[in-house]
Amino acid sequence: MAETAVRGTFLDFIDDPWKHVGDEAAATRFHVDGLLVVEDGIITDFGPYAEVSPRHPDAVVTEITDRIILPGFIDGHIHLPQTRVLGAYGEQLLPWLQKWVFPEEHRYADRAYAEEGTKHFFDNLLASGTTTAQAFTTGNLTCNEVFFEEASRRNMRMIGGLTGIDRHVPDYFANTPEQFYDDSKTLIEKWHGTGRNLYAITPRFGFGASNELLAACQKLKLEFPDLWINTHISENPAEIHGVLALHDDCHDYLGVYEKYDLVGPKFTGGHGVWLSDDEFRRFSDKGAAVAFCPSSNLYLGSGLFRLGKALDPEHRVLVSVGTDMGGGNRFSLLNSLEDGYKVGMLNNTILDGSIVPSEQNLAESERNKLSAFRAFYLLTRGGAESLYIDEFVGSFDIGKEADFVALDWTAGPPAAPWHASLLHEDGDELTLETVSDLLFGIMMVSDERAVDETWVAGERAYKKA
Ligand code: GUN
Ligand code: ZN
Repeated sequence: MAETAVRGTFLDFIDDPWKHVGDEAAATRFHVDGLLVVEDGIITDFGPYAEVSPRHPDAVVTEITDRIILPGFIDGHIHLPQTRVLGAYGEQLLPWLQKWVFPEEHRYADRAYAEEGTKHFFDNLLASGTTTAQAFTTGNLTCNEVFFEEASRRNMRMIGGLTGIDRHVPDYFANTPEQFYDDSKTLIEKWHGTGRNLYAITPRFGFGASNELLAACQKLKLEFPDLWINTHISENPAEIHGVLALHDDCHDYLGVYEKYDLVGPKFTGGHGVWLSDDEFRRFSDKGAAVAFCPSSNLYLGSGLFRLGKALDPEHRVLVSVGTDMGGGNRFSLLNSLEDGYKVGMLNNTILDGSIVPSEQNLAESERNKLSAFRAFYLLTRGGAESLYIDEFVGSFDIGKEADFVALDWTAGPPAAPWHASLLHEDGDELTLETVSDLLFGIMMVSDERAVDETWVAGERAYKKA
């Protein structure tokens, strides 16, 4: 296949900005006039235009001007069948699931309904600049077939799996452990590693899982050790009390998953709002990841995730950002960054010692601050590392899959362009410092309207109307 290339202003990350406090630029790679060369969906060359272009005289070049091009965004935690219950009123997690979520998710057992919902889901991902997601589905086989078919049709790198629940759930929506095991295995054999699909063994959460269901997960992981594991953890206080009542031989929430050998690399626990220091340490020791879902944690009133604790360099936990749509009320990870920044600021009211002077922890409060580079690192390379997919996506390294997003810093609500004009004069060449300011403006002042184009495997998959 012929070489194609994109010319524009590129930013990606070569390291974790939290490792470079005071000099986060050292974690970035920036080409104000760059060229990204693609063949068969894979990046084959990348660098300054003047250097790279003579090596590819025959490449067909698309020019993208006045945009910042970043690797495609990675959503570490999202729910396919909640696309339509986005913005449900009035409940915290457990009653919200019963009242709004289970009845809607049940409809995805119908193929035609599942196809319609799944199309909306993927269209919204691309319009938000999200090219990869780790998704919950339902416990129904048809819904999962439709998910993998649509992901394949769009050639997107997706992680997902049959989402099992057999406790605290209406009978019409419950799995049995045997059916969960059998249907998961059918899907694994058909879809894991087919095209860009990856499979996650997906027990919905400890509160909804019997010992037998968790044992089925353990058996699947033993049979297919390279699979992902995706679940929820320590999201809401009522949920946690319920988990410890259901699994009374475990002394904390993580212990429930540890008992079945599920916690290790490729394990993601969504939320983790109420994780203890000891649980954070065990996440870190085992190479397991947390998906930080700030929009959801605020929307459902779950609590304030301790990002600065998770990123303690002594016990660094892998972190992705998840919209948790529809627990989160937006599809756009840009909105998650906005909420994540505010969560950090709120946490710091405690950590700065102004409430309890003895709890002052200035190092942790510094880590809570979601700068633009930290934020977009989490959506790209950091998210990929946390999900163990950084060999495929998350940066512009040669050999990676060519998924990327072009952001327009002047788009969004009416306030955005004038705000941006304070940061950058039209016509001036962009510097890395200005890019940092513009990206912070995009995450705090704009929304998915800043997403101008989204490219998947070297092809334009979305262009804003
Ligand atoms: N815990 C179990 N299921 C869910 C879900 O659908 N959304 C959220 N936010 N938490 C959950
Ligand atoms: Zn969730």
